[in-house]
Amino acid sequence: MKRRIGLLTPGGDVCGLNAVIEAVVKAAHKYDVEVFGYLNGYEGMVHDRGRILTLKDVEDIRHKGGTILGASKGPSPKAYPIDGQKVDMHDAILNSFKAKNIDSIIITGGDGSMREALDLCKLGVKTIGVIKTIDNDVEGIKALGYDTGTQALYDYIGHVKTTALSHSRVMVVEAMGATVGWLALRAGLASGAHAILIPEMKLDMDELTEFVNDRVENGKRFTLIVVAEGIKLPDAITPAQDDPNRTAPVLKGAGQYIEKELNQRLKGKFPNLEIRSAVPGHFQRGGNTLANDIERGLICGAEAVNCLMRDEYGFVISYLNKDIEHIPFDQIVGRAAVPEHHPIVDAVRSLGVFMGQHI
Ligand code: F6P
Repeated sequence: MKRRIGLLTPGGDVCGLNAVIEAVVKAAHKYDVEVFGYLNGYEGMVHDRGRILTLKDVEDIRHKGGTILGASKGPSPKAYPIDGQKVDMHDAILNSFKAKNIDSIIITGGDGSMREALDLCKLGVKTIGVIKTIDNDVEGIKALGYDTGTQALYDYIGHVKTTALSHSRVMVVEAMGATVGWLALRAGLASGAHAILIPEMKLDMDELTEFVNDRVENGKRFTLIVVAEGIKLPDAITPAQDDPNRTAPVLKGAGQYIEKELNQRLKGKFPNLEIRSAVPGHFQRGGNTLANDIERGLICGAEAVNCLMRDEYGFVISYLNKDIEHIPFDQIVGRAAVPEHHPIVDAVRSLGVFMGQHI
């Protein structure tokens, strides 16, 4: 049996994953090594579901959104729910690797997936990671999918803007980004939002109301507010988290909250003012992949295979402009929040965009 590399794409999908898959399969083929693709992330690994990926499978998939392997946000293999018990599935996984002649694994994912990758590494599996997330919340790494996600949000806001202008409305757009504000901040700045609300900055509703009030009084045609889904909401409107199989809570309601608050505070004074909200949701994760996410995916995928062939492993591959770095799994830390000072934050403030003080 030929040597085999396992490949999986756990967590939420992003644009650029198919570029990684195409590069891994093509690069491995050059070494006469086969790639076994696990279906739906760690779910496939736990249940031993997947198949050998051929050159035909990956022909010209690099630009397509999503992942041909499927993704899932299922539970950790070391505490996998079976018959009401949490079972460590690692022995079963190692046995299936042996039976298939898989000695190494390439895993794309966020910081959570990289913690699972570290577990496999400690069990002797040669493991390499590629960071992907539209939230861009892993310290020191430009994540795969972040640029395309930003562009998708920018495009969506652009559409909302034309109708906001036509109807002279206040429009609130709710951005993804989990508990950090990078996506909202970057797309908000690029698209000319008048206010950008992110979890890292204190939200003072009185100040926001005054800001919108002044714009209306000064005859501004419309007001565009971009709010990150992860802003702190009053407990009463935080949605219940009732899905035990999810590794992270579903965040929703930020846009509606701002819409409702502004309506309550401004409608009395401006009865004809329309304040509405819109949610792009998963639109931000799909679509056509931007060239730099394709490039990042291809470079990281090919480098991962080349490293394994040199018997180098135990790290995440990071590509930033011209340098490739290998960052050990145990140094991967998630939730990289927007700092008080950053070129994007400073530009937002200099342009007079409403944002609030850093918490
Ligand atoms: O982490 C990526 C992300 O898209 C977040 O921005 C968002 O909060 C979450 O995933 C949505 O997850 P799901 O697709 O499982 O609802």
